[in-house]
Amino acid sequence: MSTPAPSPAANHVPPRHIGIIRDGNGRWAAAKGLPRLEGHRRGAERLIEVIDACIDDGVSMLTVFAFSAENWKRPLDEVSGLFKLGEWILRAHLSRLEKRKVRLRVIGDMTGVPEFVRRPLEDVMKSSRDNTAFTLVVALNYGARQEMAAAAQALAADVAAGRLAPEKVDWPAVEARLQTAGMPDPDLIIRTSGEFRLSNFLLLQSAYAEIVFTSVFWPDFDKAQLRLALAEYAKRERRFGQTREQLPPSALR
Ligand code: FPP
Repeated sequence: MSTPAPSPAANHVPPRHIGIIRDGNGRWAAAKGLPRLEGHRRGAERLIEVIDACIDDGVSMLTVFAFSAENWKRPLDEVSGLFKLGEWILRAHLSRLEKRKVRLRVIGDMTGVPEFVRRPLEDVMKSSRDNTAFTLVVALNYGARQEMAAAAQALAADVAAGRLAPEKVDWPAVEARLQTAGMPDPDLIIRTSGEFRLSNFLLLQSAYAEIVFTSVFWPDFDKAQLRLALAEYAKRERRFGQTREQLPPSALR
């Protein structure tokens, strides 16, 4: 049975952008004597519920770790099962995403993604471009270190070509060359399944993110669990390097 959902605190400004490291699909399945892919399927269904809950609770962007640049090391049948599942879940829930005016973005190296997944993702990215209510960012074949290296390459090329002076290589210049350019930084990162690490997910963008770790396996992470994470976030005091005394009264709870 799921935990009763606390309402977010009345004075709570919801996080604008949440990042989720959805972990524990395999262990969820193993605990139930099911194949790993069944855990992934249940996990994919959960994502749809969590997107709905985010929209209902005033969150405007969600980035989910769908497939990391390191996940290629998994057994071949799991990798191909994951991509088939990704394509299926997009097709199965597309009308719902359209109805809720969800814009789709992808970060990661799409060149490595099989065409039967890449093509529909590109189509939906194009058709949902003007949706402003909510943005779903799928991190696919994504790794923060790879993203940083690509940004460094782009900076080096601009410097070498004389388009950018070396002393102008500051954080805005780096940020503009990340795959997340134009996106707000995540305010809250959630990782499920009792693991306490970031696993190469949005490392630079998470510099000031609040992090919530929960022991719940991702296939059990429902709307109530999201509300618990939001309630935990609401208790955090975000100081961004300042002292408590410097914060405006609206930031103190
Ligand atoms: C974590 O569980 C989950 C993943 C590694 C990936 C889940 C991704 C999908 C279901 C969709 C993929 C979509 C596309 C388009 C590829 P885990 O397997 O690490 O769980 P464990 O740590 O318990 O083994």
